[in-house]
Amino acid sequence: MEASRRDFLGVALGGLGAIGALGALYPIVKTLEPSAASSMEGRVEMKLSEVPELGVRVTSWRGKPLFIVHLPEDIEQRFQYPSLKAGAKNSAGKTNKEIIGSHRIFALEGVCTHLGCIPLWKPEGSDAVKAPYFHCPCHGGLYTPWGDVIGGPPPRPLYVPPQKIEGDKLIVDMAIKDGFVKERV
Ligand code: FES
Repeated sequence: MEASRRDFLGVALGGLGAIGALGALYPIVKTLEPSAASSMEGRVEMKLSEVPELGVRVTSWRGKPLFIVHLPEDIEQRFQYPSLKAGAKNSAGKTNKEIIGSHRIFALEGVCTHLGCIPLWKPEGSDAVKAPYFHCPCHGGLYTPWGDVIGGPPPRPLYVPPQKIEGDKLIVDMAIKDGFVKERV
């Protein structure tokens, strides 16, 4: 059931990435995830149990797609990633992985930092990257699951919003000051 749901999301995201137009995307994204997250003005709450391991759920936040990622505990032992693109740091001057740390469920803005397309989640990897990763189909941007750049033209990692875990939920909100991410980077 979860696998077919993931497949559906993967296929749907593939189509959305090809469209690449935010105006066309948002109504569709909202339709995809009507019950997975409650989204108030500037705030998203997602139940941790709603995100299958190695899955990415999609919702919207402040008018942009938001990816909620759930990684397996041993992802770094199981998979080797290509080197990060030199100089592609977030606005804190760090990699996203340095900001997110060991958190396995976290949120990333789903907008390619090259020209704004919607990256696709590739949980099975590919010939080019033999590990789960994000692929931006527009010009071949490649990102790790933490949103760090491993290939293509994106100049910086995917944006990481302020977020925290509270009880059984991941909360994303610009007002969060006590989370594991305290400011948008
Ligand atoms: S918009 Fe993503 S690689 Fe160009």
